[in-house]
Amino acid sequence: MDYKQIQQQCEFDIYPKKDIVLVKGKDSFLWDENGKKYIDCMTGHGAASIGHCNEKVIEAIETQARNLITCTGSFYNNKRAVLMEKLVEFTPSGLNKVFLCNSGTETIEAAIKFARFSTDKSDFICAMRGFHGRTLGALSATYTPKHRERFEPLLDGFSFVPFNNYQELASKISGHTAGIILEVVQCEGGVYVGDKKYFQQVQQLCREKNILLIIDEVQTGFCRTGKKFAVEHFDIQPDILCVAKAIAGGFPMGAVICKDSVEPPVGKHGSTFGGNPLACAAAIASIDFMMENRLEKAATEKGDYLVGKLKETNLPKVKEIRHLGLVIGIELEEDVQPYLEKLMESGIFALNAGPTVIRLLPPLTIEYTELDVVIEQLIKVLK
Ligand SMILES: Cc1ncc(COP(=O)(O)O)c(C=O)c1O
Repeated sequence: MDYKQIQQQCEFDIYPKKDIVLVKGKDSFLWDENGKKYIDCMTGHGAASIGHCNEKVIEAIETQARNLITCTGSFYNNKRAVLMEKLVEFTPSGLNKVFLCNSGTETIEAAIKFARFSTDKSDFICAMRGFHGRTLGALSATYTPKHRERFEPLLDGFSFVPFNNYQELASKISGHTAGIILEVVQCEGGVYVGDKKYFQQVQQLCREKNILLIIDEVQTGFCRTGKKFAVEHFDIQPDILCVAKAIAGGFPMGAVICKDSVEPPVGKHGSTFGGNPLACAAAIASIDFMMENRLEKAATEKGDYLVGKLKETNLPKVKEIRHLGLVIGIELEEDVQPYLEKLMESGIFALNAGPTVIRLLPPLTIEYTELDVVIEQLIKVLK
């Protein structure tokens, strides 16, 4: 069957496509329909952080599928309870209340609504270069004009300030500010790591002015940066933490974890599939796997190893390498697309972060022998 042709005919043409039909994944690898094998440093933008088709996740989904697949949020549920307790335990202290949904953008939608409801204020301050999703609320918090154009007007009350600049942010605060929405590592925006002092000042300001600090860890959460959550690098405790992608071994899920002080809008928000028992079972297995295998430690060591090897090589095309654990950005002087194509031809999937940054999000479980292949190919194309 010509899958490519069928999709070309039937798919609403939203995603620019690579000319490959993927049919199988295992651990760090993906295979196309012709049996060609690739090392996956895209991992579905970080969703397959524990590798593709993790055995524990498969087992959990298989077992749960025989018990209960769907269950409305109006009832209590065994898997949901276990996952919520695990999330409260796994996330930074003080975050005690969980709302489950199905994607990253939905976590931001929920956070915006929770913050407006809880503070009775309307406005949000966000960062330039920030990315928070594609639905209209999350898009209102997203900076890049390319994503916003032709969808405006978006929500009122959102303003943008330069990342890592406390004075600019403080100057935008008003009596209407409900929340500040930030990533601690701007991933889509080019892999820019936040500054600890900046985040601590922002947190202090939020506490003084009764503003909610909303941190988007959709891409950085669950061990990727070398801590369970990237906020731990900065010693901050957000009022609302948004997570998704890696939470459930690649199964769709998002979670918003709030401090007790955030007032829940009872009966005013919801999701049919949020907290779906299959997704919960996958998430429980995935989080257990991360904890048992100390994946935060692996992310630090492997990130330092890869970046160290690149930095000790003379790569004239490379302007700067930025990273925190296994979120890696290699900035070039030029457009990265031709380099991504060359990497793909040599069996490595990598992605961009803006026009001039190659972004690597390998599985945290990647073997050193596989990392060596990635390093070798990167050096080959960047020399
Ligand atoms: C930081 C961040 N927030 C939100 C989102 C949106 O997540 P989703 O694509 O699951 O809606 C993304 C997706 O890349 C992201 O990186």
